[in-house]
Amino acid sequence: MAQSQFQAALADAATRVETSLDTLLPKDTRIADSMRYAVLNGGKRLRAFLVMESAGLFGVPVAQADAAAAAIECVHAYSLVHDDLPAMDNDDLRRGLPTVHIKWDDATAVLAGDALQAMAFEILADINAPIALIGSLAKAAGGQGMVLGQDMDIAAETAPTPLNLAEISTLQSLKTGALIRWSAGAGPLLAGHDPEPLHKYADALGCAFQIRDDILDIEGDTAKTGKRLRKDEAAGKATFVSLLGMGGAKLRAAELVEQAQTALAPYGNRADNLRQAAQYTITRSS
Ligand code: IPE
Ligand code: IPE
Ligand code: MG
Ligand code: MG
Ligand code: MG
Repeated sequence: MAQSQFQAALADAATRVETSLDTLLPKDTRIADSMRYAVLNGGKRLRAFLVMESAGLFGVPVAQADAAAAAIECVHAYSLVHDDLPAMDNDDLRRGLPTVHIKWDDATAVLAGDALQAMAFEILADINAPIALIGSLAKAAGGQGMVLGQDMDIAAETAPTPLNLAEISTLQSLKTGALIRWSAGAGPLLAGHDPEPLHKYADALGCAFQIRDDILDIEGDTAKTGKRLRKDEAAGKATFVSLLGMGGAKLRAAELVEQAQTALAPYGNRADNLRQAAQYTITRSS
């Protein structure tokens, strides 16, 4: 029952953010086509959902929530386009389709990513978003956030000794956690409220989410994930699975879901969709 209510909310978030993105993105140039391809073709839209649910808790106007959701999906799509480049993870499949550099070329993929990142800030500026929200997105995306995590991820592939638990936690909280944390904090920041409880929720959720991604690389099905699997081990990726084994990683993910759910206590049953999202994070097959 609750799970299907969550599934409906996630589907609704996807429809809403895709409608916004379709309106906001440029049209009819080569770069516009590649940007649209990267951000409009599928994706679970979990980050958009987190923005919309957190905004709902604070009575944020829908138009503002939708803009913030579109902004984070642009940054996320950019991160995927660059993550898939030959110089990074070298992947040819994303969301069930050829990656941007396969469909076009490396230069187009670099530029589409660059343009999507800039687009996110344009969208936030156009709604006169609070400077705290705009600044925190820059920090979450950049060299102290997602990009730093991606750099650690690539460096770990050739590290002389395997990363320890604290190092992997830091890496993942940056490469994946930072954008998820921003998403869940967007609602309170748009309303001028304290994002702390939702940040706590998102920190646990983000880590559980990446553990599931690493598990799916081993146990998943390409028909469902829409990406090539069984690559992380050969690439020497530092993951919770590489460190703790499959059983240990699953146990850790379940603990994190409990932590995430506990952090939602201040919001009572109005946060039920967010509670269900935490569970979904570790049971999802795509
Ligand atoms: C994939 O993110 C990259 C990670 C941070 C693990 P998602 O699994 O959210 O990808 P989409 O947006 O649904 O395609
Ligand atoms: C990517 O992590 C995190 C990003 C910031 C894009 P992965 O490299 O594991 O994501 P997938 O498996 O390619 O989606
Ligand atoms: Mg990667
Ligand atoms: Mg990758
Ligand atoms: Mg992965």
